[in-house]
Amino acid sequence: MCGIVGYIGTQQAAPLIVSGLKRLEYRGYDSAGVCIISDSGARIEKKAGRVADLEKYVDISSMTGTVGVGHTRWATHGVPNDVNAHPHTDQSGSIALVHNGIIENYLTIKKKLLNAGYTFRSETDSEVLAVFIGMLYETLQDMELAVRTALSEVEGTFGLVVLSTHEPDMIIAARRGSPLILGIGNGEYLVASDAAAVISHTRQVVYLNENEMAILRRDGFSTKTIENVDTRSVVEEISFELEQIEKGGFEHFMLKEIFEQPTTFHDGFRGRLQIDAGTVKLGGLASVADKLRAAKRIIITACGTSWHAGLVGEYLIEHLARVPVEVEYASEFRYRNPIIHSDDIVIAISQSGETADTLAAIREAKLKGATVIGMVNVVGSTIARETDAGVYLHAGPEIGVASTKAFTSQLCVLTQFALYLGRMRSLSSEQGREVALGLANIPAQIRSILDRSEEIRSIALEYANVSNFLYLGRGYNFPAALEGALKLKEISYIHAEGYPAAEMKHGPIALIDAELPVVFIAPKDEIYDKILSNIEEVRARSGKVIVIADEDDTHIHTVANHVIRVPRTLPMLAPILASIPLQLLAYYIAVERGCNVDMPRNLAKSVTVE
Ligand code: F6R
Repeated sequence: MCGIVGYIGTQQAAPLIVSGLKRLEYRGYDSAGVCIISDSGARIEKKAGRVADLEKYVDISSMTGTVGVGHTRWATHGVPNDVNAHPHTDQSGSIALVHNGIIENYLTIKKKLLNAGYTFRSETDSEVLAVFIGMLYETLQDMELAVRTALSEVEGTFGLVVLSTHEPDMIIAARRGSPLILGIGNGEYLVASDAAAVISHTRQVVYLNENEMAILRRDGFSTKTIENVDTRSVVEEISFELEQIEKGGFEHFMLKEIFEQPTTFHDGFRGRLQIDAGTVKLGGLASVADKLRAAKRIIITACGTSWHAGLVGEYLIEHLARVPVEVEYASEFRYRNPIIHSDDIVIAISQSGETADTLAAIREAKLKGATVIGMVNVVGSTIARETDAGVYLHAGPEIGVASTKAFTSQLCVLTQFALYLGRMRSLSSEQGREVALGLANIPAQIRSILDRSEEIRSIALEYANVSNFLYLGRGYNFPAALEGALKLKEISYIHAEGYPAAEMKHGPIALIDAELPVVFIAPKDEIYDKILSNIEEVRARSGKVIVIADEDDTHIHTVANHVIRVPRTLPMLAPILASIPLQLLAYYIAVERGCNVDMPRNLAKSVTVE
């Protein structure tokens, strides 16, 4: 959510910042701006729209100087326009700031500043902070002190970078609730909201901690808390390769990421799955193994797609380990004073590892004494660092705003977690082996579905102009139906609902007419006959039926308008295979409708605000 790139070094900063911003655009893309500090002062250029629009508006190479900062915005306060775009400046125009997060008490601060005669151009909370820092500088005459003093009065969240013509050879960065990393180059330093922006310059990074500030100068950097206590920074290596954040010949990141799933799924169990012993080795959980063995209840908390994965996790864990599981939206959990016991295990699932609600939920759970486990994709992210133990997804960077490969990797990790817990309890090695073998077969099965993507595309083309979609599944496939509907609505803007198939008759059946496509997920499991009845109910009302069915189902084509066949697997693994055609269906429909699938309107990857 909002991309930040700052640079201080020997190279021209502007082109370097703009190329970094392009790599961060998936974090927010409603406006972009750059500030370069040089001997002639602070030059700021900003524009509503994408980074490419900014480039059309200004010749970036004409912005000369070796210190600067850039920003791509996802609007919180104020519509996306040129004025509300970042960077923002103080009243004198000599201090520039970019900000990710929300200043909750900005109205109180703004009122004080207005009373003191300061004026504002934008509707943003961020400009208030810039003006506030400027006011403090007037008396303190020290940029670092002015920023620190301002931040001590601020309530809310920030990942911010401040530059100034008063002290032009310095960048100040600070974080609370919004990630920032420092890139340590050779005689040059970067600061960014995401490793993707720095990897083409350096692999050496420092992850700023909560409430930490960094002062970057031409000859080095230091870190300290916002309260001015020096901190020790640990330089780490970025864990992915540059080509992983490039499109690699695909039209969209989303399509690339869908097609990566045979590999990413395999990476999720490589070195973990022990097929012969029917178990799994999860090194990241060793320190909490005793707590897991004694756990009376598991609470899974997450948002969006990760929450859907959590619902599958509930079924998996209760099935394989017989431990009761509750799944909670993190945004609800954090505020409802949840009842948590010290022998509860809370699992936070997050692709980005930065989702503000999920982060707040784990803090609440920790405060109340639970053991908190992270299932996170982004290495070094805040959730990964704040949880007691964890299992990485190893899906590699996910750039497409709609989550695809992270979802299947979450299911991969959740299945292994359930297996691990089950084998600690009553699951036999024979039962464990069956699950492990099923998992090991998934990458090849995903590949075989991807090989039939053209079939799915031709179905998609028939339905690209409808206004509504219904997705139905039962048991393990109910969350897959929810996820299928979410994928479609977020990238194609078609209204779509997911439901447990049997719930259809309690309301959604009223929607069914000859215009409504209904997607069923109907593998041949023990509730297959029940779902056939639900299909008949839709047919009886002239609804269009699209079914994801087993490849050896010889009956299903007689009751469906379209059948998308997937290989047979264990019922508990069926949502993994079902999600591949659902992702492709959504993708091809959205492309046909001319939507920007990688950057859908109003969305952003990594939701670091409440
Ligand atoms: C949907 C999507 C979102 C995220 C949600 C949680 O495609 O990407 O619903 O799943 O914002 O994000 P993470 O997993 O990063 O915590």
